[in-house]
Amino acid sequence: MRVLFLCSEYEGLIKTGGLADATRALAVALQKSGVDVRVMLPRYGALYDVALTPDWQSVYFSLAGEAMGCAVRQVAAQEVPLYLLEHHELFGRERPYDDGLHGYPDNARRFSFFCKAALQWCLEQDWKPDLIHGHDWQTGAAACYLKTLYAAALPNCRFVFTVHNGAYQQPLSMAELYANELSWGLPQLRPSLLACGLVYADKLVTVSQGYAAELLEEPAANGLSQLYQQRRQDFSGILNGVDDQIWDPAIDPYLTHHFSPVDLTGKLHCKQQLLRHCKLPDTDWPLFVSVSRLTGQKGYDYLIPALEQWLTSAQAYVVLMGTGEPLYVDSLQQLALKYPHQLRFIHGFDEALSHLLEAAGDFFLMPSLFEPCGLNQLYSLKYGTLPLVRATGGLKDTVQGLDQPQPTGIRFNEPKPEAVLQALQQAMALYQQKEKFLQIRKRGMQQNFDWGSAARAYLALYQQLLN
Ligand code: ADP
Ligand code: GLC
Repeated sequence: MRVLFLCSEYEGLIKTGGLADATRALAVALQKSGVDVRVMLPRYGALYDVALTPDWQSVYFSLAGEAMGCAVRQVAAQEVPLYLLEHHELFGRERPYDDGLHGYPDNARRFSFFCKAALQWCLEQDWKPDLIHGHDWQTGAAACYLKTLYAAALPNCRFVFTVHNGAYQQPLSMAELYANELSWGLPQLRPSLLACGLVYADKLVTVSQGYAAELLEEPAANGLSQLYQQRRQDFSGILNGVDDQIWDPAIDPYLTHHFSPVDLTGKLHCKQQLLRHCKLPDTDWPLFVSVSRLTGQKGYDYLIPALEQWLTSAQAYVVLMGTGEPLYVDSLQQLALKYPHQLRFIHGFDEALSHLLEAAGDFFLMPSLFEPCGLNQLYSLKYGTLPLVRATGGLKDTVQGLDQPQPTGIRFNEPKPEAVLQALQQAMALYQQKEKFLQIRKRGMQQNFDWGSAARAYLALYQQLLN
């Protein structure tokens, strides 16, 4: 079975969040299951230094009458064949979607171009995919082109579309629809690249069952609940996993000290290392960590006021790392100034430090307003760092709260500072009950969220479509 992944991020090459973790891990897991999987993504400016194989192809096509061309190059020495679609003017910019503050104004054009070029490339190769698997709005146009402009040329090719985050849709103006040859037959709905994927794909998946249920309703669906409902028969949730080549505390190459549920000494050393790094004294206070994009999705609107109040008296450390919206950056910097003995805010995107934070923490803060799946809570479980989460989407599916028979973390419901505060207090109390805390820590570390199960579920879906 030949499957082409179209995506905009891939771990090890370009990453802004969990999408990158997911595309790589799933591609590798599918390959292990015997699928001939290949991956294509744009060659961003940040990828101009990547080592390539000597062969490359040129691809020519037209987009609404305009003659277009690009190069397709292959990355050297990859387990899964990886192709970069190169067009300097559209993709030569350093960052994938924005200049750091604002989304690029031509994103609809850029990613429509990517999708049409990818289909044209398929047409011209000996290797023809049986199925194209697109990830998120950046690849929604490909589903539309496959079923319209390329229906005659690639009649047997099927399309699976995974929604990793339904909040990002890339809305389209009428002018953008026409300029990119996208067909839209639903006058009652605002067109977007995400919606193109939802309308035209043969099967729709999202990254947890909990979020799949939420997307059938507003406000989670961000205006598209009708569409998800219409496609209910073809829509399912498949939970992401943990890539244990990258996230395993027993062998993690980013860590100096390793550990496992049977010997947690290394975890204590990681905590000491992080406290030293942050110039915080090494006491037995619990350490709360977080690594995340700084957006409304991640719950900062109620987390920040909760921390502000809690830290006036809490004997605890908080170390947060993230990049994102300036409003949250400012508030977190202010908070760090206000509580220099307890809180550090690391404003940056640092892969190595993200592993140390996961390893060092006692609790991982993930109070998301919504969370399609979430990977950091899964990494946290594996690293013995109890996730403190809001019960939503994938977080609800993967973390058991203290009121459940087999707790693995702490959960709260209301997206309000008082609810976070209460959860923080529960965490403090639990930390004092050493035996119970250790039991929950070890239970979390033994949970199994492997990509093999996800790959099997996707494979079953592919087979269903291809038979
Ligand atoms: P989302 O995809 O919504 O951002 P996930 O929990 O699925 O959330 O995945 C986030 C991924 O991005 C994780 O691998 C996390 O470690 C990584 N990440 C987020 N922010 C940073 C950062 N500032 N530095 C390093 N890694 C980060
Ligand atoms: C998105 C979601 C996150 C999910 C990730 C990978 O970025 O916000 O919840 O884990 O994609 O699927």
